[in-house]
Amino acid sequence: MHIKKSLPRSIAIVGAGMSKFGAFPDKTGRDLFVEAFKELSGSIDKGFDPKEIDEIYVGNFSSDLFEGQAHNAPIMADAVGLVPRSATRIEDACASGGVALRQGVMAIASGLADMVLVGGFERMTALPTAQVTDTLAAAGDTLFEIPAGFTFPAFYAAMASAYMHRYGLKPEHLMHVALKNHANGALNPKAQFGVTVPDWMQGRIEAAKKKNKPVPTWQNEWDFLHDDAANPLVAWPLRLFDCSPITDGAACVLLVAADRAREFTDNPITIIGSGQASGMPLHDRAELTSIGAAKIAAQQAYEMAGVTAQDIRIAEVHDCFTIAEVIASEDLGFFEAGTGYGMAEDGVTARDGAKPINTSGGLKAKGHPVGASGVAQVIEVWKQMRGEAGARQVPQDVPLALTHNVGGTGQTCAVHVFERK
Ligand code: COA
Repeated sequence: MHIKKSLPRSIAIVGAGMSKFGAFPDKTGRDLFVEAFKELSGSIDKGFDPKEIDEIYVGNFSSDLFEGQAHNAPIMADAVGLVPRSATRIEDACASGGVALRQGVMAIASGLADMVLVGGFERMTALPTAQVTDTLAAAGDTLFEIPAGFTFPAFYAAMASAYMHRYGLKPEHLMHVALKNHANGALNPKAQFGVTVPDWMQGRIEAAKKKNKPVPTWQNEWDFLHDDAANPLVAWPLRLFDCSPITDGAACVLLVAADRAREFTDNPITIIGSGQASGMPLHDRAELTSIGAAKIAAQQAYEMAGVTAQDIRIAEVHDCFTIAEVIASEDLGFFEAGTGYGMAEDGVTARDGAKPINTSGGLKAKGHPVGASGVAQVIEVWKQMRGEAGARQVPQDVPLALTHNVGGTGQTCAVHVFERK
């Protein structure tokens, strides 16, 4: 396979914005997109003229089914006053945002554009959970997998049980991933779940007392996470706190040709590696404990960037389920296959660890509005690299960072590497 050694033209991110993630019954997808764009507009240090935007790429999985609105990219362009710019929707399931970013990179690298708006949105909570589950299942193989009873929690449960069998992972290892990501999410004002698991538990105890209901006897977060009522099984071995939630949200970043970046900010972040690969549906794969497309996308991105996995300081990876973070950390080469599952417990992937992962709270705690997630990952590394992540800022300097965004069970993966010059 041909791997481009470097981008023909460098690309910088000079602005970023996102809506709060959560459940917003009164907001449409376009409301959320406008919120994200407004925040982006205010984030560009030296200002910008939106009329200079040449292209718009919008990641979205299924506003058709979630909101009854297809053909949404021109709608978003109109909502933020950018008609008649070229506006294109990118649909690659949960990787839609990461793939939209790659399209923006390609548009600038090709010389066709100098300034590109890359966004993503999903408005999921208007449908009941069963319908959301069916809608998400359309990202699997509807000929072979869905008729056999698979849902997305079930797909990742199959991966988790294969991993357990092969490497000896225990459910508690996954609980450590959830505890870490909720601890990070508690420091992210944009997160859907801005609360640690111990605080969540305490909240339930207080609520029971107030309502004169039986008060749970949990002594600590481990009692809580092992309680079938508080943390029910969704698809064995995955429980509620192993799953990302159903979320409404939007995110946007502004890309410019790097030679123009200083017109907009003295602190640009450059995209130096971009990789994307496809993979077979889960039922056709020989390997359930890794995602081939992620390995290939990572290899492409590393080679283009001229860096290795060890050089990456922080990463936002696609933790749609806790097991997915473990597998991602191995596919990206951060840890040897079969060793990633202990890293949350050992503190390696914590904010102050050697390899912080999902400092934003990840999809698990920040939320997972599927089309927006890949773009929101970029916002987190952009903030961390610029030292603007507030209470969740990592203690170490971040000259190099990575994002990893997966569609389906790994039929699509986009990986990007970022540098602060
Ligand atoms: N983690 C932790 N708590 C969650 C949660 C999650 N993922 N999802 C919901 N909750 C909490 C809610 O906040 C609520 O708490 P409260 O009673 O204190 O207010 C409670 O659980 C019930 O919420 P509800 O919305 O009724 O949950 P649900 O049973 O309808 O949905 C899941 C739970 C796990 C089924 C749903 O979040 C889901 O399908 N997640 C996976 C999404 C997915 O597959 N995305 C694509 C990945 S590739």
